[in-house]
Amino acid sequence: KGSDAGTSVFVQTGGDLNLDVTENDVPKDFIIFLWKFGTKGVVVTFYPNKQPQVQSPYTGRIESFENKFSVKLKNLQKKDSGVYVARVTTAEEQILTEYNVTVQDPVSSVNLTVDSVSITPDSSSCNLTVTCRTVEQSISRTFSCINRICNQEPRDRSKVPNLGASLHVYLLNEVIFCNHSNQVSWTESNKTIQEFCPG
Ligand SMILES: *[C@@H]1O[C@H](CO)[C@@H](O)[C@H](O)[C@H]1NC(C)=O
Ligand SMILES: *[C@@H]1O[C@H](CO)[C@@H](O)[C@H](O)[C@H]1NC(C)=O
Ligand SMILES: *[C@@H]1O[C@H](CO)[C@@H](O)[C@H](O)[C@H]1NC(C)=O
Ligand SMILES: *[C@@H]1O[C@H](CO)[C@@H](O)[C@H](O)[C@H]1NC(C)=O
Ligand SMILES: *[C@@H]1O[C@H](CO)[C@@H](O)[C@H](O)[C@H]1NC(C)=O
Repeated sequence: KGSDAGTSVFVQTGGDLNLDVTENDVPKDFIIFLWKFGTKGVVVTFYPNKQPQVQSPYTGRIESFENKFSVKLKNLQKKDSGVYVARVTTAEEQILTEYNVTVQDPVSSVNLTVDSVSITPDSSSCNLTVTCRTVEQSISRTFSCINRICNQEPRDRSKVPNLGASLHVYLLNEVIFCNHSNQVSWTESNKTIQEFCPG
């Protein structure tokens, strides 16, 4: 089980990470069991019939469970992003599981505004241009409606999403949504199309 990169886990800054290993996966005659961070640091060490030893950088951040090799690492910060490895030593060393952990901040709020509305006198056709802004970026989209059937025009601009987050503008049940999301959070702003395109 487990791919080379390990299980991908995304945690919001300040959140907790569960490092799980099944008790049955740890050989009864083990000499030492470690949760390691990357190739450098040891997080916690288990010896048979002893209390787990938390390494100093992790003091106060580890919650362990009696007779179990699973631990909870608390209050994750960006620098905690990386690969966590469960390594057991018997006669030889064995990797039991790996987690590839990415710590992300929640995304900033979004603001969807209507820039322009163009309606034919008989109200049968309506074009609506909106802009969605975050502190980092903005994108504009035009929606074209004919007899209240709206399509997103194909030739619109969009900016490259910033690090790990994406900004999408889309139409869903006559509501325009702007959705700013990453792996741990999302924020949205919306406008009802009929408010601007009556008919
Ligand atoms: C860990 O996950 C991140 C984000 O999905 C990815 O970019 C990176 O390549 C992965 N690293 C490893 C060692 O698998
Ligand atoms: C959104 O932007 C408009 C125009 O810049 C501004 O008037 C409005 O207060 C903003 N709304 C929010 C919730 O930030
Ligand atoms: C809406 O846009 C389409 C395509 O650019 C154009 O053909 C149409 O006349 C526009 N309608 C209005 C009401 O501006
Ligand atoms: C916004 O995007 C996220 C991630 O793709 C999704 O889970 C969420 O339901 C979306 N929210 C709305 C209002 O569409
Ligand atoms: C649209 O935004 C308002 C706040 O501006 C929110 O109360 C409402 O739930 C949103 N609508 C949908 C369908 O998400």
